[in-house]
Amino acid sequence: MNLLVLRIQNLRCLDLVELELTPGINVFLGNNGAGKTSVLEAAFLLSHAQSFRSGGKETLIRRDAGELSVYAELQRANGYINRLGLGCADGRWSARVDGNTVSLGQLVHACAVVCFEPGTHALVAGGGEHRRRFLNWGLFHVEPAFLDTWRRYERALKQRNKLLRSGQATDPPLFTPWERELAEAGTAIDQQRAAYLQRLQPLLQESVSKLLPELGSLELRYRRGWPDTADLQLALAEQRDRDGARGHTTLGVHRADWSLVFEGAPLREHLSRGQEKLAALACVLAQARLYALERAEWPVVCLDDFASELDEEHQEAVVAELMTAGAQVLLSGTRVARSLSASSSSRFHVERGQVARLL
Ligand SMILES: Nc1ncnc2c1ncn2[C@@H]1O[C@H](COP(=O)(O)OP(=O)(O)OP(=O)(O)O)[C@@H](O)[C@H]1O
Ligand SMILES: [Mg+2]
Repeated sequence: MNLLVLRIQNLRCLDLVELELTPGINVFLGNNGAGKTSVLEAAFLLSHAQSFRSGGKETLIRRDAGELSVYAELQRANGYINRLGLGCADGRWSARVDGNTVSLGQLVHACAVVCFEPGTHALVAGGGEHRRRFLNWGLFHVEPAFLDTWRRYERALKQRNKLLRSGQATDPPLFTPWERELAEAGTAIDQQRAAYLQRLQPLLQESVSKLLPELGSLELRYRRGWPDTADLQLALAEQRDRDGARGHTTLGVHRADWSLVFEGAPLREHLSRGQEKLAALACVLAQARLYALERAEWPVVCLDDFASELDEEHQEAVVAELMTAGAQVLLSGTRVARSLSASSSSRFHVERGQVARLL
């Protein structure tokens, strides 16, 4: 899929930016603080309904402006053009697809944007929440029932945690309905996650072999969030008193995690920082390829601050691979990498929130 038009209003330092993008590489150049990441953030927002940067969504709204909007024309692999809109006014977020008001979930489902940016290395070196978010996004786009199941799980988790904190005795009649719900939804989510990681594994191995050949073969380890041999409902019932003392639920898919174990670097601490970044990039690219295989079109790929993250050789390999695949790329940096001088691309100059096309 390709973003043909991207119109951004009041996002961070971007007042009003209207871009016509090309299906290949789109490079955004400019000094620090110019607004490059903000352009990529706008595209990402359509596909995630949240930023890849930390902080609440409201920090995206330009200071002194009450509202924000992002509009895009997105061409699908079959040629059809979707008109996508996301806005926030008076603190309320709303979404539109082809002129119809839709839920944020429906908008996110209509559009796929993956992003590699300085914070992505948390996928390898950060907390489990980053890796669960990665899994959830992938599943949300390929499993139609995932979002409903996930919402059921979150609701039941909230209710059980409320009971645990209420100080009431851990009576089975109060807990059992929520634990049954957690177990039903949780088991379904676990199965979907395990199957997703299995499908991802060969693609990840391929990406890793290209980006990190020195690290040898790869094992993808998945922990589902409760003991492998236990039934989740029984495990929750057994854990109730201990969870009561802690005030929250300590077993379930919200505690799941996965990790990469390399033959040539059995512990994460064996990886250099650059290798951590490359491993994280391999995850993003493998997820994009799996999406392409299962949805028959490539997601838009954002590479933020690319030149400062990777050496030139790796930049060239990644860009060449994405071009061969036919993916649209939005890439930002303070200078152009050698790898891009040769490839046909559109270039934009970003300065103090203004974006001008160079080529
Ligand atoms: N809510 C906001 N309202 C107004 N300006 C903001 C807001 N949030 C961030 N900014 C400003 O927007 C500017 C652009 O930030 P952005 O991260 O897009 O820059 P960048 O070109 O990617 O810079 P770098 O090269 O340092 O990564 C910064 O000057 C920042 O201070
Ligand atoms: Mg930036």
